[in-house]
Parts: sequence; structure tokens; C-alpha cells
Amino acid sequence: MSAADALSARCPAPDPVRLAADLAALERFTRPDRPYTRRAFSDEDRAARAWLADRMTAAGLAVAVDAAGNQIGRRAGTRSAPPLMVGSHLDTVEAGGRFDGIAGVLAGVEVARCLAGVPLAHPLEIVNFTCEEPSDFGLSTIGSRALAGKLDAATAARLTDRGGRTLADAIDSVGGDGRGLDRARRAPGAVARYLELHIEQAVSLDRAGVPLGVVTAIAAPSRYRASVRGRQDHAGGTPMGDRRDALAAAAEIVLAVERLAREAGRGMVGTVGTLDVHPNMVNIVPGAVDLLVDFRGIEPGAIAATLAAFEAEASAIGARRGVAIALAPLLREQPLAIDGAMVGLLEDAAAARGVAWRRVTSGASHDANHVARLCPIGLLFVPCRDGRSHCPEEWAEVGHLAAAAGVLLEALLRLDRVA
Ligand code: HGY
Ligand code: MN
Ligand code: MN
Repeated sequence: MSAADALSARCPAPDPVRLAADLAALERFTRPDRPYTRRAFSDEDRAARAWLADRMTAAGLAVAVDAAGNQIGRRAGTRSAPPLMVGSHLDTVEAGGRFDGIAGVLAGVEVARCLAGVPLAHPLEIVNFTCEEPSDFGLSTIGSRALAGKLDAATAARLTDRGGRTLADAIDSVGGDGRGLDRARRAPGAVARYLELHIEQAVSLDRAGVPLGVVTAIAAPSRYRASVRGRQDHAGGTPMGDRRDALAAAAEIVLAVERLAREAGRGMVGTVGTLDVHPNMVNIVPGAVDLLVDFRGIEPGAIAATLAAFEAEASAIGARRGVAIALAPLLREQPLAIDGAMVGLLEDAAAARGVAWRRVTSGASHDANHVARLCPIGLLFVPCRDGRSHCPEEWAEVGHLAAAAGVLLEALLRLDRVA
């Protein structure tokens, strides 16, 4: 397929200079003491949202906030039809990067600029989803869950952070309506197609020198809270044989997560990212430890086998050490195989734009995992340097972002004809 086949040839190409300016403007909205941190529902989040609303308006979009706090920049289509949707997120992890989620929202705004004056049959919606990253409420991807009908007002009223604030109140603080959360819900078919552009957050594209990934499957997290309860004792006077050391048991759990994921192969990964020790003093044998466990995989069989092995091993560690280990399942999400027609359409769009690509899978999960309940979804990746993400070193080349935005534009024009 030649580049001459590109429908988007009649639109201006996404502009790397504008994208770079938007990226530079957004990175200001971070906790100054811990770049780059823009936690959902924070002052930095609200400031970034206000900035985005201005950029969306300037791009010719009518901006609204739904009951889940999702920021939606919308333009009408020439006919009454479900919208084509492009989205991602502006919230970050603690000490995260400047591209995770951000690249996709800004590419969407840039595509809207390029489409100015170009009528589409479908309405177009560019979305900044609320709280994609794990939150203090024990939940992530809050906006896209609500949109997909996987999070209701009753749950938002029940979930609280350590300070006792409810998720519903937090959603209100970004312009949503936590108590009317169910109004954010869209029915299956109420979105025509969904596309997301994201950094790869893995090293395959960067290492191969390929500027674009077309994603064929997205991993999904299975998470536990592990509560280890031993016996708090004096660090000096308690003989080793008498101890019921919760932290030593927790350390075995951490190493078991690493070993079981490694031994499982088949793309499984396992992480313990948080660990709280009580009472956490140098001269006390820890009596209690709480940790969060995160397993990811693409193959349901590998996921199930790894989780079963982990639960059995945690039980054995507790019995051997005389400590109580409780595993509370927090998430058990299913991996997502992406519709072959959407993969093919994105590949055709890349070919039409003359952008080299390769098929990849996603170890990270995305808002797309939930929107897939409403319509066929597609996911494009741009390389990130050394595969690094969820860290201040996260970096993507704006030239890759502009080229991928061109593929996104081409895909939208094609979907507008077929969806
Ligand atoms: O954790 C994830 O997979 C995503 O980056 N929030
Ligand atoms: Mn992330
Ligand atoms: Mn992300």
C-alpha cells in the first residue's frame, strides 16, 4: 500500500513542535519536590485538567466532564452516530514519567487540531480518563471502569483512603459527581471504536529500532494484599528459635513472587511494590507486615497456574514459620486479545503513512482494557528509551509521537468510513 493511499494526506500532519510544547507545558504540573508526580485528585491533577480544557477548546473541541470526572473533548459528526473515541490519562504514579498516558491524550488533541475543518461522519471524543494509576482507594482505571459500567456509585461511596475521604468525594473534587457515578456509564455499542496511543513501557521497540508497535494483546493485573501476622518481640532478648518474625516471612513471600513468575515463563511477571512494617523500629522483631502483590500475564492458563502456586506457597511459609498469612484478592482482571480487524486496520494505517511497525503485546494494562467492554479497541505504542517507565527517566522521542499520531489520524479516518 503506498503512502498515496493515505486518507490523512488531505489533513495537516501532526506537528512535533506543537506536541513538544504541550509535553513541556504539562510537565510543570507536578509535585515540585518529587518530579514527576501528578497523582489523581491532587492539586496538580486539577491544574493539569484546567490546562487541558484550554488546549481542547483551542483545538475546536467542546469540553465536558462526566460523572466519573472523565474530561471529554467532543466534536460533532455529520450524522447521529456513536462517537469514535481516543483516550488515555494525565495522572501519574509517584515519581513517574512525562509520557505514560500523557502521550496519548496529547496525541488525541493534536489529531483534533489536524482534523479541524475536516468533517467526520462520527462524533469524535478525546478523553482524559480519571485516575488510571493505582489510587489510595485501592483501585485504578477509575474513569474507564465507570464508563464501562464496572464501577458504581455504591462502591465509590464505600471506598475510602487512609484519611477517610470517599472515592465519591474525590471524584467530585475533579468535577465529577461521585454519587451520580452511574450516569458516566455507556452501554455496549454507545462508542463506535476506541483507540489509544501509549508508550510501550517495555524495551522491545526501542531495542529493535522500530518506531511503532501495533498491540495484539494486553496483560491485566491480578493483585493481593498479603497480611502477615507474627509476634512483636525484643530484638535483643528473643532467641532466634522463639521468634515469629513477620518481616522475615514477608521476605520469603517477596522472593516467592519473583521466583514463581520467573519459573512460569510464558510472559508472566510478578512484583511486590509496597511493604509496610509494624512497628518498624530497629530494636523490635516485626509483628506485622502488609504487602501488595501484582502478577501480570497474557495467557489465562499461565496466570491461573501461577496464582495457585503462589497461594499454596504463602500458606506453606506461614505454617513453617508459625505466622498467620492472609491473602486478600484485590483484582483478578482478564487479559485482552485485541480484535484482529482492529490490528489489521492499524497496520494498514501505518503502511499508508509509511511508518514501520511491529506487532507487540502489552505488559502494562490500560484504560483500553475496560473500554473494550463497549466496542472494538486498538492500541498503538511508541518506543520508550531503554524500555524505562514509571520513573523520572521515562523518555519518548517526539518524532515517534508525531508519526504515531499520524497513524492514529489515518486510522480514525478509515474507521469513520467503516465503523
Ligand atoms: O500498571 C499499569 O499497568 C499501568 O501503567 N497503570
Ligand atoms: Mn502507568
Ligand atoms: Mn498508562
